[in-house]
Amino acid sequence: MKTPRFIQLHRIDDAALADEAAAGLRAQPAQVSPKFFYDPLGSRLFDAITELDEYYLTRTEAAILAAQGPDIAAAALALAGVAPVLVDLGAGNCAKAARLFPLLAPRRYVAVDISVEFLRQALQALQREHPALDLVGVGLDFSARLALPAEACSGPALVFYPGSSIGNFAPEAALHLLRQARALAAGGALLIGVDLLKPTALLEAAYDDDLGVTAAFNLNLLKHLNRLLGADFAVRDWRHVAQFDAAQSRIEMHLEARRALQVRWRGGERAFAAGERIHTENSYKWATADFEALLHQAGFSHVQRWSDERGWFGLFLAGG
Ligand code: AVJ
Repeated sequence: MKTPRFIQLHRIDDAALADEAAAGLRAQPAQVSPKFFYDPLGSRLFDAITELDEYYLTRTEAAILAAQGPDIAAAALALAGVAPVLVDLGAGNCAKAARLFPLLAPRRYVAVDISVEFLRQALQALQREHPALDLVGVGLDFSARLALPAEACSGPALVFYPGSSIGNFAPEAALHLLRQARALAAGGALLIGVDLLKPTALLEAAYDDDLGVTAAFNLNLLKHLNRLLGADFAVRDWRHVAQFDAAQSRIEMHLEARRALQVRWRGGERAFAAGERIHTENSYKWATADFEALLHQAGFSHVQRWSDERGWFGLFLAGG
């Protein structure tokens, strides 16, 4: 049996993270990056979100892959070559990619996530199921820069970026990431999941569910900041807000102060008026034609797309 290899490419620096969060709190309007959602409880709350009735994204993407997987895999292998190197961006528990193994028969699986520690358990379990598969875990914050060392990936690859995580990037930044993904694929292909435009009521329900799980996910960011910054946010003073901005084609999540209040943290403080907000996330929704145009703009010459019957979610395969 082989053993997984691990490569940590960046240091997770709590002091730098704290500085970044504090700068966002001081900004006008206040804003904090969605990466601060994902402390241990936040990651579990996100997993719970994916099981909510209202949150169709994860389940719809999985249904497309289950129903049309053989077709998608055949097209992907035609672009990336047989037995490809499969690069998984934001791999987490590696479950989505592992479901593709029987269809793709990759020669190597490269799981990329912000923390290599999170990948350790998942890849060790995966190795027991696939004893001969070459497994590599890479710790990398690819939102800053996406590139892998040759020991992890060289030559044509199939890059997999599921879940509509691209939705967190504004169009310009998404284009930049797609260009880097194309360079990483090196003549192979990109398979990417994208949430599509749909009626506002459906979008807003997906980000403001009846059980309040998404509200808890958003509010938990304040508890994370309390720990990271030594801040004194009282969660009860804040309200979850999720709104679709049609002009920018994005769901915006905010935390809104229920009353005038003062927040203090290590090295700073700020007054918030009643109703004042902290912007915590953008989740862009794409029209199919616009996302295809973005892929072409990123340099891909060959684009194919699969969707569910309702046209709620798209899987785009791009090569060339
Ligand atoms: C992980 C970025 C794809 O935007 O739908 C879910 C995060 N935020 N509910 C999304 C999220 C609130 C999610 N992504």
